[in-house]
Amino acid sequence: MSKVNNHYIETLHPIEKKIIMSIDNMNGSSINSLKTSTELNIDQIRRGLEWLKFKNLISSQRNIHNIISLGNYGIKYIKEGLPERRLVQVIKEGRLTIPEILKTGKVTQNEINIAISKAKTNKWIAIKNDEKIGSKVIHILEDHVFDSSEELLLKKIHENNIINEYDLSIDELNILQILQKRPQIILYKKTEEFVSLTEEGEKIKSLLEADKNNLYLQETDHGQSLTSEMLVSGKWKNMVFRPLDVESDTPLLIPGRTHPLTDLIEEIREAFVSLGFAEIEGSYIQSSFWNFDALFTPQDHAAREMQDTFYLGFKKDDGLENRRIVKNVSEAHETGWNYKWEIKQARKAVLRTHTTPVTLKYLAEKTLAESKIFTIGRVFRNEKVSYKHLVEFHQIEGVVTGSNISLRDLMGIQLEFYKKIGIKKVKFWPTFFPYTEPSLQSMIYNEQLEKWIELFGMGIFRPEVINPLGIKNPVLAWGGGIERIAMLKYDLSDVRDLYNNNLGWLRGVKKSQL
Ligand code: PHE
Repeated sequence: MSKVNNHYIETLHPIEKKIIMSIDNMNGSSINSLKTSTELNIDQIRRGLEWLKFKNLISSQRNIHNIISLGNYGIKYIKEGLPERRLVQVIKEGRLTIPEILKTGKVTQNEINIAISKAKTNKWIAIKNDEKIGSKVIHILEDHVFDSSEELLLKKIHENNIINEYDLSIDELNILQILQKRPQIILYKKTEEFVSLTEEGEKIKSLLEADKNNLYLQETDHGQSLTSEMLVSGKWKNMVFRPLDVESDTPLLIPGRTHPLTDLIEEIREAFVSLGFAEIEGSYIQSSFWNFDALFTPQDHAAREMQDTFYLGFKKDDGLENRRIVKNVSEAHETGWNYKWEIKQARKAVLRTHTTPVTLKYLAEKTLAESKIFTIGRVFRNEKVSYKHLVEFHQIEGVVTGSNISLRDLMGIQLEFYKKIGIKKVKFWPTFFPYTEPSLQSMIYNEQLEKWIELFGMGIFRPEVINPLGIKNPVLAWGGGIERIAMLKYDLSDVRDLYNNNLGWLRGVKKSQL
């Protein structure tokens, strides 16, 4: 069914209407001819043509035409006159010899030869020997010098802006050839776009023509945008506005945005804060003491091996200057694990393998009876990169201390926390960490995979962890990687996709709305 009706016409922009009205459907119209007939500027015409093409109201062809326009010198000569024209002017002013003529500056050294030869061919001048002054002088042959055919053609091209070669007579074509021998007067272009109306476009044109006094003019009179002045004065009531086409396609906008992982980190931060937790931060570089020893991780534990941990080539002594703490920790290890604890191992600097040294150090420094804190940050593990492992990723960790708290509280807080970040189906499973007892793993249900997935580790810090540091009350802690949540949230099967900087994905991924 044709979409053309009066209502559809109202949705057209005045520029579109003007263009439709001006298109010559017999021969097609070029942008330049539309410029003359619509009195719009080139940009408006180009844009209007794009719209019309998009709406299938016009079609376009590139035709091979020899299009002629003026080059640099052509434009200059229109302003100043051809050299031969300037030559006869200065001769008329009484300069008769070449040095005199050049002195006026009106004809330059470069132009003088061509000027004389053309003026001679045009039969404007003759050169004679003047015996009285003993040199050649130039004479005007006729009092009234007519426009040369070259000048006439130049003017014609100038007035039309551009001319199609087919529109020139045989005589004019010959003159064109002569003009072309002179540099940069004529520009030749081979192709030009011609547009014509499609069947629908033609229907619109005839409707517009039939309705000239009403629709078309109405639009030009009143087709402006609504202003506050129109609203205030009430003028809008008597005006006709172009209806907005709410179904029209809009250009694709690709604004800058935050990375999806940053969005998730923000959400998690908000979840913690809304549950009354305060954020703390710590360094990427930790001593092995805080990363492992203070966490009751024996010095021969697998996690401390080079293939799991990035060691740095220097020592870090923070925590070790406190003799009492070092002694307590060493005793806890020696009695608990039954081996000889070495301070040397504890001094090795590492890129933190988890965020727990950050929370633990804070607890040790403050020894607060009650606190609710969290930390979010990057951690580093010397693992082989795969679809589920990265060497750098992010962990979060939440910690609660208080006098009367238990595992139940830990699970309760945890459920609240998950609810805040949109995870509803959770269960807990026993597991092992050297530093917590009991230790649990939270599992979350992934509806799509129809599978339970391990998420955060958690537990109550062991006496071997809190006693040496002088922490009195029980400490509940949970934490783990957030890339895993990101994978669930953004439906990724490969964790590396988060870091590939794939613009297509980054642009398309839905902004999460919690
Ligand atoms: N640090 C543990 C990990 O890296 C998680 C954890 C945090 C476990 C707090 C217990 C308590 O997986």
